[in-house]
Amino acid sequence: MAKDKAFARLPGFRDFPPEELQIRSHVFESWRRISRRYGFQEYDGPPLEALDLYTEKSGEEIVGQLYAFEDKGGREITLRPEMTPSLARILGERSRAMPKPIRWFTLPQLFRYERQQRGRLREHFQWNVDIIGEAGVGADAEILAVALDALRDLGLGKNDIVARVSDRRLLTAVLSSLGVSPEHHLVAFEIVDKVEREEASRSLQRLREECGLSESDAEAFLGLVEDGGPEDIARLHGKGPGVTEALADMQEHQDILARLGLGDFIQFDLRIVRGLAYYTGIVFEIFDRNREFRAVCGGGRYDRLLELVGGEPLPATGFGMGDVVLTELLTDRGLLPDVARDADLFLVSITPELRPLAHEIARAHRESGRRVMYALRDQSVKKQFSSASTEGARWVIILGPDEVEKGVAVVRDMASGTEAEVSLEELRAGKGLGGDDA
Ligand code: HAM
Repeated sequence: MAKDKAFARLPGFRDFPPEELQIRSHVFESWRRISRRYGFQEYDGPPLEALDLYTEKSGEEIVGQLYAFEDKGGREITLRPEMTPSLARILGERSRAMPKPIRWFTLPQLFRYERQQRGRLREHFQWNVDIIGEAGVGADAEILAVALDALRDLGLGKNDIVARVSDRRLLTAVLSSLGVSPEHHLVAFEIVDKVEREEASRSLQRLREECGLSESDAEAFLGLVEDGGPEDIARLHGKGPGVTEALADMQEHQDILARLGLGDFIQFDLRIVRGLAYYTGIVFEIFDRNREFRAVCGGGRYDRLLELVGGEPLPATGFGMGDVVLTELLTDRGLLPDVARDADLFLVSITPELRPLAHEIARAHRESGRRVMYALRDQSVKKQFSSASTEGARWVIILGPDEVEKGVAVVRDMASGTEAEVSLEELRAGKGLGGDDA
């Protein structure tokens, strides 16, 4: 191998050296804590799945981003780009025997061959929380509450983030009442999904050409999508199929979230349709208020997916929250904890002969649950103290020949700088650090 060959990390993938991993763990801990607070149970599945699990159910965009290949057994497989189809598959095999509703969460690493852009990588971790087996709007509200509570737990408030909420049934009803045939609804959703990133003229052109809307209807539709509230939909399209029900659900959704203390985080917004094909009802995305970042979280109701993958026909609602945009946002707001080294105890041996004693004392304190370190070979006292400080040691035990001769050692409290002589007997029993070491 050429000597100068350097192995680069693949583009869009991350390494997690300890400082980065500590940040990731901080986010994961919050996700797990809040999931449990709402009564969800953790599950997982394999990172590789059969290709056809995604080709029909997820929609074109994601299928174009698959890391797909043929395995040695000739199977068409892919790294999972999202978790929802796996969840549907896993439940397909076992949901019949389970009490409903099912409340499950997971923290998978997902893979999408994305174009390089800010906030989008080719792998990310995505917290997924889903309720399966409950068709009522109470489940939709609960799901959004979980997502918002985790963001609050991480320090983000109502001035930092907003959940933009819509309902695909409303958009469907509006499209139907404008005479757009059902086979054109998905493409209309796709146009709406891109409306904020596209020139208005281009969206209007697509609505005319791909959905068959007249110029004035296309304009009216786009105007409603961009600025319309529930009252406008009720006034203009109130007689459409399912509109009354969807509007009532939207009201109930808002009322529940207000009672859960999250009313200030919610905004109705018809532009939210979600890029994935399987959503059927209330959908939402959470953004930073200033819209500097991409969506932190997206989800919604998908009542037909379980049946589509061959399982029990169960209604479902859930979301995915990625770690990439979230970490960018937390960094921007100064909400990430300092990553500090935090040993409890460092043992300094003044002479090499005392190192065996350091091992014995270290063992006892480790058994007491403390993080304990010492130099792994003979080192100057100065170097040992410098390591103690690098490791952020709370206490240092100094093993000196004269003290050991007397049956004691010096314990230095690094926070206060005070020192005390403590008997070796106590130190060998994993005690003697004072205060909270009982
Ligand atoms: P999604 O909108 O594709 O939904 O992804 C959810 C979130 O994952 C996004 O808002 C974003 O934070 C993050 N994310 C997605 N792709 C990337 C990427 N390439 N790089 C970094 N972050 C990314 C879903 O995947 C649905 N399966 C969520 C769901 C669960 N719906 C119902 N249950």
